[in-house]
Amino acid sequence: MSAVTLKQNEEKFSKLQLVIDQWKDKEGPLMPVLQAAQDIFGCLSLDVQKYISKELDIPVSEIYGVVTFYSQFTLKPKGKYKIGVCMGTACYVKGSQAILDEISKELNIKSGETSEDGLFTLDATRCLGACGLAPIIMINDDVYGRLSPGDIKEIIKKYKD
Ligand code: FES
Repeated sequence: MSAVTLKQNEEKFSKLQLVIDQWKDKEGPLMPVLQAAQDIFGCLSLDVQKYISKELDIPVSEIYGVVTFYSQFTLKPKGKYKIGVCMGTACYVKGSQAILDEISKELNIKSGETSEDGLFTLDATRCLGACGLAPIIMINDDVYGRLSPGDIKEIIKKYKD
């Protein structure tokens, strides 16, 4: 680890410590602390879980159970670009499964995974509220509608470049 990352990490842990101090003696500190840690670090790695375990005096196994139960928490960092493929009814009927399969093939990841280069995280989502444009995907805040599998390569390429 370089000096810069080490320093950044120290800063993150001291931020987390402030949150822990704030919650330590209150009822049910775990969820708010985990939420803050997820925001600070972008994910809840085992190191972060161990730190919280020690500070709050809660077994790591219990923390791990909570982290893996709630979908808002992740163990690994998410990609720079989050791709959400809508699997709501309107999109599904118009072929969103084929879109999801195509992205999966293009990036070599399954739904819920992040690409090796750390660029993309792929997720299947519920209705994104733009059914008129079905089938749609979102990449961070960008919406792409009326897609066919043939469009995917070009779209992904834009984010890779
Ligand atoms: S079903 Fe896809 S946007 Fe509504």
